[in-house]
Amino acid sequence: MSESFTFSVTGTDGTARTGEIRMPRGVIRTPAFMPVGTAATVKAMYPEQVKALGADVVLGNTYHLMLRPGAERVAALGGLHKFMNWPYPILTDSGGFQVMSLSKLRKIDESGVTFQSHVDGATHVLTPERSIEIQGLLGADIQMQLDECVKLPASPQDTERAMRLSLRWAERCRRAFGEQPGKALFGIVQGGEDRALRIESARALVDMDFKGYAIGGLAVGEPQATMLAMIETVVPYLPTTKPRYLMGVGTPDDLVAAVTRGIDMFDCVMPTRAGRHGLAYTRFGKINLKNARHADDPAPLDPTSSCPAANSYSRAYLHHLVKSGEILGMMLLTWANLAYYQDLMASLRKAIVDNTLADVSAAIRADWGAGAA
Ligand code: GUN
Repeated sequence: MSESFTFSVTGTDGTARTGEIRMPRGVIRTPAFMPVGTAATVKAMYPEQVKALGADVVLGNTYHLMLRPGAERVAALGGLHKFMNWPYPILTDSGGFQVMSLSKLRKIDESGVTFQSHVDGATHVLTPERSIEIQGLLGADIQMQLDECVKLPASPQDTERAMRLSLRWAERCRRAFGEQPGKALFGIVQGGEDRALRIESARALVDMDFKGYAIGGLAVGEPQATMLAMIETVVPYLPTTKPRYLMGVGTPDDLVAAVTRGIDMFDCVMPTRAGRHGLAYTRFGKINLKNARHADDPAPLDPTSSCPAANSYSRAYLHHLVKSGEILGMMLLTWANLAYYQDLMASLRKAIVDNTLADVSAAIRADWGAGAA
């Protein structure tokens, strides 16, 4: 296979597009949903199962893997792909976002972020250069710049400061990454809810010539309308020839809305985390399997799903597994949820090719909620 990293748009429907990211480890069909494999595992799933659902890429986390088992150890063992037995593309997040949400005693300055590990309390320093070094040791195919995503509510001054710091870190990451055939570094647009800051961030990143562009700092508690307004603000400033990645999003409705506005890639813990907490995502809405109303229900989650977890196990059985804290309950619900997310993306890709995105989106929204409980 070629050693290059390329993105080609193969179909459009309005602002939405479908295409392919090609790289030595495989092809990512876009729009793509990337299951989250934080600690070198998509929790409760076998890698073979993840691939069989149609996922072309999974996400790993610099923050978790640098703390445990350690980037140098993973590198010595042959890299993250070999370590977790996932030979396909891997995207790693840079660590900054997870430091802010998970670590104790963090301190941000120009050089980077100093923090205490949530695992053993040890002090670590993550600079833009070290983040790129770690992502390289892991062997990630798509790497992310180190950025600062401000916690909400944030003052306009703090939002602007974090956006400018993220731009300076973007330059340092870009320099540290250099040119790596077959691999990509993405910049991350920040700027909170301020349109002018978002545009400034996007323009400056585009000047640095990344292989792709992410939009960060969204889905952090703001209304969906605000998130969509920020996407609509930023997308016109991003090159049509590069992939666009909306970080940490989202609900099925968010995915449909963002694809419609030109987003190509997503990641979110929602389907996997919900699966471990007794919640199923189906085309007919969310189903809370903890609810006693399912105790005697012989119906499967969704008889129309192609996933065995959704079509072959009764809600009564799933309710029993969840109430009993059985591991299989988490496994089946995670499987069903990721199947639903991957099927949703496949139907959006097809709708863009067929130029039927508006109708398909309306049908998805009409189904959604019909069987919620
Ligand atoms: N995941 C979700 N949002 C963000 C963000 O703003 N930055 C990074 N690095 N990761 C994220």
